[in-house]
Amino acid sequence: MDKILVHGGHSLNGNVKISGSKNSALPILAATLLTKEQCVIHHVPDLSDIHYMLQILSHLGAHVERASGTVTVQAEKIITEAPYEIVRKMRASVCVIGPLLGREKEATVSLPGGCVIGDRPIDLHLKGFESLGAMHRIEGGNVKVFAGELKGSSMSLRGKQGPTVLGTDNVMMAAVLAEGTTVIDSAAAEPEVVDLANFLNKMGAKIEGAGTRRIVIEGVKELHGAEHSVIPDRIEAGTFLVAGAIAGKEVKLRRVDPSHLTSVIDALTRAGFTIKADGDTLTITPNGARKPIELTTNPYPDFPTDMQAQMCALFAKTPGISVITETIFPQRYMHVSEMKRMGADISLNGPTAIIKGVERMSGAPVMASDLRASAALVLAGLDSDGITEVNRVYHIDRGYEMIDEKLNGLGAHIERVKA
Ligand code: EPZ
Repeated sequence: MDKILVHGGHSLNGNVKISGSKNSALPILAATLLTKEQCVIHHVPDLSDIHYMLQILSHLGAHVERASGTVTVQAEKIITEAPYEIVRKMRASVCVIGPLLGREKEATVSLPGGCVIGDRPIDLHLKGFESLGAMHRIEGGNVKVFAGELKGSSMSLRGKQGPTVLGTDNVMMAAVLAEGTTVIDSAAAEPEVVDLANFLNKMGAKIEGAGTRRIVIEGVKELHGAEHSVIPDRIEAGTFLVAGAIAGKEVKLRRVDPSHLTSVIDALTRAGFTIKADGDTLTITPNGARKPIELTTNPYPDFPTDMQAQMCALFAKTPGISVITETIFPQRYMHVSEMKRMGADISLNGPTAIIKGVERMSGAPVMASDLRASAALVLAGLDSDGITEVNRVYHIDRGYEMIDEKLNGLGAHIERVKA
């Protein structure tokens, strides 16, 4: 397994280009199953999660071609069973159920296991499918969802931790070919849900309200092929903003959508940084001393759970006491024990992390876990003494396109060691 060696103490300066959004590309690629015609998707990032999704589409019978950032898919004839050996590698594979159900009225997909950030249930997805008239049964670790016909209906997709992103995506993809009107209340409003709805509407769907808590879908008979460019990855962008905060003089991000990052910009501004938006660029510079702040993760448009670990890395060396409360995945603190091995002073109290800024952190061999925690360990290494060795780098490669090369392009000194 590859590892990444981060040599601390190199400051960051310059421009970095942000890739297309992983969490937008995944459901959009799944949505290409809804038509027999060809779809062309641009700005698809080169990530292992995307590779797994393309493998699943091919296994289901779609013809898939990739030429650098553009993926062409044509699903003329498909089967409806996604294979365990691929699905187990990526729980987001669950978002092929909606399109398979919409088009073929059945889908068999292995149940997503849990993962290090916590249990990953799909009860809300299944509740939404049932509202449309589908039934499901669990057998042999698979969930089989099937329906004679799909009829539009009204439903709420709120769980105890709030809305569900992939659940909203999945139900939307089944409802576009259902008969009649579907209303999804307590829908997720993430930009990636909006991007999927925009792609589906280009295919001939009739979706209104994406980006709000109420999405209304008029079912249509069939969908046609379409061409689409995926939005920029707001979490990759946020990660590079934090890299700039931790080690930057002046770091400029290109090809971003600042309107997707208002809560992250607000948090970093409160933490003592100046962030300037100019069209599709964002520039971060220090604005005096770093300040400790309090943060709570919440559904979009509030502070994203996918940026929580990165902020822990920043707060680890911010004088004073910073407090983070994680409401989406309360156990999402795998990075804390690793940062403490680097000298961080963090104590956990259930879903809350209390972070007392320390003067210095020292590089150490650390273990990556989920993709955002892994990226946070690289960020912590940027401003630590000595070398931080991040093992199990495949976690990072799931969600970040060439993070080492992009950081080195800004002046970092990071080596990737092939194992
Ligand atoms: C999406 O996961 C993202 N993944 C996650 O990003 C992100 O952390 C998450 O949304 C929250 O924003 C993709 O888009 C591929 P949820 P998703 O359903 O849709 C509970 C990354 O780093 N829940 O919005 O799977 C769930 O346990 C990844 O790129 C149910 O209870 O998350 C959680 O507490 C990590 N029942 C909360 O809702 C359900 O049926 C939000 O989960 C579904 C979810």
